[in-house]
Amino acid sequence: MSALQGNPFLTWRDAQLCLEDQPLAALAERFGTPLYVYSRGAMRTAAAGYQRALAGQRHRLAYAVKANSNLAVLQTFVQQGLGFDVVSGGELQRVLAAGGKAADCVFSGVGKADAEVLQALRAGIRCINVESEAELHQVSRIASASGLAAPIALRVNPDIDAGTHPYISTGLKSNKFGVPHADALRLYRLATTLPGLAVQGIACHIGSQITRLAPYLDALDRVLDLVDALAAEGIRLSHLDMGGGLGIAYSATDDPPSPQALVGGLRERLDARGHHGLTLELEPGRSLVGPAGVLLARVIHTKPGAEKNFCIVDAAMNDLARPAMYEAWMDVSPCVKTATPPARWDVVGPVCESGDWLARDRDLAVQPGDVLAVLTAGAYGMSMASNYNSRPRPAEVLVDGTSVHLVRERETLPALYALEHLLPT
Ligand code: LLP
Repeated sequence: MSALQGNPFLTWRDAQLCLEDQPLAALAERFGTPLYVYSRGAMRTAAAGYQRALAGQRHRLAYAVKANSNLAVLQTFVQQGLGFDVVSGGELQRVLAAGGKAADCVFSGVGKADAEVLQALRAGIRCINVESEAELHQVSRIASASGLAAPIALRVNPDIDAGTHPYISTGLKSNKFGVPHADALRLYRLATTLPGLAVQGIACHIGSQITRLAPYLDALDRVLDLVDALAAEGIRLSHLDMGGGLGIAYSATDDPPSPQALVGGLRERLDARGHHGLTLELEPGRSLVGPAGVLLARVIHTKPGAEKNFCIVDAAMNDLARPAMYEAWMDVSPCVKTATPPARWDVVGPVCESGDWLARDRDLAVQPGDVLAVLTAGAYGMSMASNYNSRPRPAEVLVDGTSVHLVRERETLPALYALEHLLPT
């Protein structure tokens, strides 16, 4: 299944590639390129898939803001009743600005600054996922000094290989995340004695772009062993947060489990081990927004060569870091079907790095001026974009049936250095 075939919101209508009802080439013309375009319908459908699968189970579904933190995206999920997984004071602030509530947010991350912990407690955060002994003391100190009770869970590192790219694997002993499984009981005991902490749950997150169920079930078993051992000591937890991480189809060879299959597998294991009553929490990011987005880029030049043909487009690694950073495979499609015969191209950006490529060895029919769509780019695209080479970040558009909304304007050049100061002369 190619990313295009797997996405009912992305279709060919005659010669035009459309997202929902909108021909992408026309959006590129209207808003300029590079341009991120997201389908609201695709996001809502993905969230509804999780919600259907979780029905009948005590649950909380928290969208991982880091995947795509545009306010209109967050607002879409607020309206659909989702909570949020945030990893910084900035992400919490965005959720509030989009109309969400701190009481629906979980705060993850290995290094939270004192000011961020205080900000979260004052806002009324639902849970802080604590990732070290030092952080337990930090949260306790800040909570007791401010007279607030901090609801916490410990993020446990289950030492499970999620079978994904090393940079996005998080559940191995060698990763910086979570407290070691072997230390968890001791740290829960400690947590119950520290002032200002209200121990509520347990969390784990083993990685991202996971394409098999087995690592999730292994992690769940390891975490439930702890839940049982804690209950035997009288420490009762009310929720279990299994993190995010579900993969999506970037290419014809990817066949990840559906949210239904993931949730079904987790529920079955919870029931089998007598834990139906635990609130099951999930923190998906990529699977809610990835397939909903495309990055549009216009071909500046074609540069055929002896070894490689380069198709140079106006989007680059600063706009979409995934290929440069993880050698990630992203599908690329022209936005208009033409009679040009296809040739083999490396699609590259204008940034001064050989790692600045978006796709390699693709058979594409392209000419200067054409618009290309990088598919499945709704997650970890704009949220990881930078201004490298003093390139303004792209604009973002959300399509919703026949409506088109500009949800972030293209950055202006003066905005790039607006916070800088010349030296006195
Ligand atoms: N919860 C926690 C604690 C996380 O660290 C993450 C992602 C998520 C939830 C959401 O995971 P998802 O469902 O999106 O896989 N930039 C990389 C992905 C980094 C993921 C970091 N953590 C990429 O572009 O592939």
